[in-house]
Amino acid sequence: MSAAPYSPLAQRLRETATAMSRPDSHLRFVPPIDPGSATENGAGIGKIIHLPRVPDPRGNLTFIEGDRHVPFDIKRVYYLYDVPGGASRGGHGHRNLHQLVVAMAGSFDIILDNGEDAERFTLNRSYYGLHIPPMTWRELENFSSGAVCLVLASEHYDERDYFRDYDAFLHEAREGR
Ligand code: TYD
Repeated sequence: MSAAPYSPLAQRLRETATAMSRPDSHLRFVPPIDPGSATENGAGIGKIIHLPRVPDPRGNLTFIEGDRHVPFDIKRVYYLYDVPGGASRGGHGHRNLHQLVVAMAGSFDIILDNGEDAERFTLNRSYYGLHIPPMTWRELENFSSGAVCLVLASEHYDERDYFRDYDAFLHEAREGR
């Protein structure tokens, strides 16, 4: 299967070296975190949350409570699975939505852009969650075989909350500063 066409953001991150040397670029690229450590990364758009872990020789357990382990009340849960190799998801922003993204199985990358900075996270542990605040453009890519991406969301599904157009997102993100 061929990959989806890349958004301007993903394309820009692929051209990091060029973007960094271009004086008119609004993107300051932040290198990926070490996938084994999931420390918070430089641009500070998304935040890695360490979820509670109950180790057990029979198999480990992790739990998530709304308003306790995530900074919002959970109104919706959805998950991505059976993602074909080379496919990318996301490619949009949200006006008001908070989300927590967890790699329940396998691994994938998430690129975040707030209109000023961009950063890439690799998620590959089921006890790390990535909190994505409102007014963040996101791209999900590099899904491993068998990856499952769990998303906890602060609101019910509402298409009016989406920015599907990157330039419209950028315009509103800059207006808000
Ligand atoms: P979308 O949010 O664009 O997917 P992703 O960001 O993961 O690539 O949603 C894809 C489709 O699924 C879209 O037509 C709307 C539908 N959808 C729902 O009906 N409910 C939901 O909670 C979500 C997230 C999507």
